[in-house]
Amino acid sequence: MTQNTTAAPAATDSAPAGQWWRDAVIYQVYPRSFADGNGDGMGDLPGITARLPHLRDLGVDAVWLSPFYASPQADAGYDVADYRAVDPVFGTLTDADELIRAAHALGLRVIVDIVPNHCSDRHEWFRQALREGPGSPARERFLFRAGRGAAGELPPNDWESVFGGPAWTRVPDGEWYLHLFAPEQPDFDWDHPAVHDEFRSVLRFWLDLGVDGFRIDVAHGLVKAPGLPDVGHGEQVKLLGKQAVPYFDQDGVHEIYRGWRRILDEYSGGSERIAVAEAWTPTVERSARYLRRGELHQAFNFEYLTTGWDAAALRAVIDRSLTAMDAVGAPATWVLSNHDVVRHTTRLSGEGGAGDGDGGARGTRRARAATLLMLALPGSAYLYQGEELGLPEVTDLPDEVRQDPAFFRGAGQDGTRDGCRVPLPWSGRRAPYGFGPVEGGPSWLPQPDSWRDLSVAAQTGDPASTLEFYRRALAARRAHPALGAGPGLVWLPSPEGVLAFSRTAAGGSFVCTVNLTGAPVALPTPGTVLLAGADVVPGAEETVLPADSAVWWAA
Ligand code: GLC
Repeated sequence: MTQNTTAAPAATDSAPAGQWWRDAVIYQVYPRSFADGNGDGMGDLPGITARLPHLRDLGVDAVWLSPFYASPQADAGYDVADYRAVDPVFGTLTDADELIRAAHALGLRVIVDIVPNHCSDRHEWFRQALREGPGSPARERFLFRAGRGAAGELPPNDWESVFGGPAWTRVPDGEWYLHLFAPEQPDFDWDHPAVHDEFRSVLRFWLDLGVDGFRIDVAHGLVKAPGLPDVGHGEQVKLLGKQAVPYFDQDGVHEIYRGWRRILDEYSGGSERIAVAEAWTPTVERSARYLRRGELHQAFNFEYLTTGWDAAALRAVIDRSLTAMDAVGAPATWVLSNHDVVRHTTRLSGEGGAGDGDGGARGTRRARAATLLMLALPGSAYLYQGEELGLPEVTDLPDEVRQDPAFFRGAGQDGTRDGCRVPLPWSGRRAPYGFGPVEGGPSWLPQPDSWRDLSVAAQTGDPASTLEFYRRALAARRAHPALGAGPGLVWLPSPEGVLAFSRTAAGGSFVCTVNLTGAPVALPTPGTVLLAGADVVPGAEETVLPADSAVWWAA
């Protein structure tokens, strides 16, 4: 393997030179479900490379790839057995190299996932820790402890796994080890210098291969409170992201990221290498702490993602996000969907599943409006594969095909993450709809029949389709000077349930209006329509915004 010499694409947007990430639209690829090059029913790296032109045509700036590293797949690859190897199910290191080069040649940057909180129980370090037993140096790289109770038969503390059940598993020699997720995902002990050295080396490995950045998995989890104190009560998953717990968002994590930032800066040159934190913190203000000078570049805005279809609540979280990020000089980020949450077409429908009653149609209307709102906000936006096709959550997967470990542990993240991970439909009238090369061939999760009409091929060229709507939105976002990095926003007077704001840059002004109510609302016409998420007939003075719709205006 040679060092990757392909240059990262030139900055083409309005962010300062090299700081492409400040207003980037970053598209999450979930490798097992994106495109299957070899027909085994599981997506792979050659499949992704072959489909990169779709992402260029969509108009995104960068691709973030969920893990494709060597892994027993106990948590769909978030259980890494070798951080420097590609799992054979996804391809080879040469395939990864080719993917990165092909993406760069198309003007797309590449961000990869790094999973530093835990590894797989098949990782060489953990196998060694099990072999060498209590008191061995190999155990010190993980969190092994004696149990409580007369015979050590109780877990060392009351911490619970995010996937449900105790966060501790006992090994045959009597010690327990900590796993904040599945038992197959032992947590590293970040007090150990070897863990620091290892991850710095892993960062360099992928940077040398040419990646443009990292998405840091469970970035808030690496450091645990000294002494591993009890939380004090159960059902801890309900506290997560709302209240402090001794295993998340400890101040010690920041020193780690200051070290990582120095490495990223070493590689940056004319185009910065970035890191984005997956940190489920109680507030955007806590998230902003990961983005202080000398730390990370971006953090996912989960407070935005979890805010419902409510104008006042959205306006409040937008204001708080912009203020908090501004205070540390970081761009805000916006996200509606990812591989861990119910797809927003379904989530915003207000009903359990797309297709019940008017839920499907309402979900689609709201999803488009939500997309226009998100892409109009200052900063950077994350898209999840398939949202550009308007895919709903698959809510009726039979239990026997499910693979989410949270499903089997019966709690935590409610165990339904397979519903947003169903393989994408690309073309054709028969499953797997072009996901794999063979009609009638396998896909690791079954796709609904209705997806034949949602494939990339079925939607391409249809101006009413969600796909063409996303393409128009991303093109308009690139073209308009007041969008993307542009300036902050100014709220305009609007009736209850309606959001209206303007953004003004040297080359022109822009207005976004969003009607979040279930009824049409008349507003003063702010300019000429740049893009509408629904049928809108602009009047000279007033324009009626349909229920659950958004419009972009050139003002
Ligand atoms: C993150 C990932 C999720 C995974 C977990 C454990 O939350 O997004 O998919 O299960 O970390 O690695």
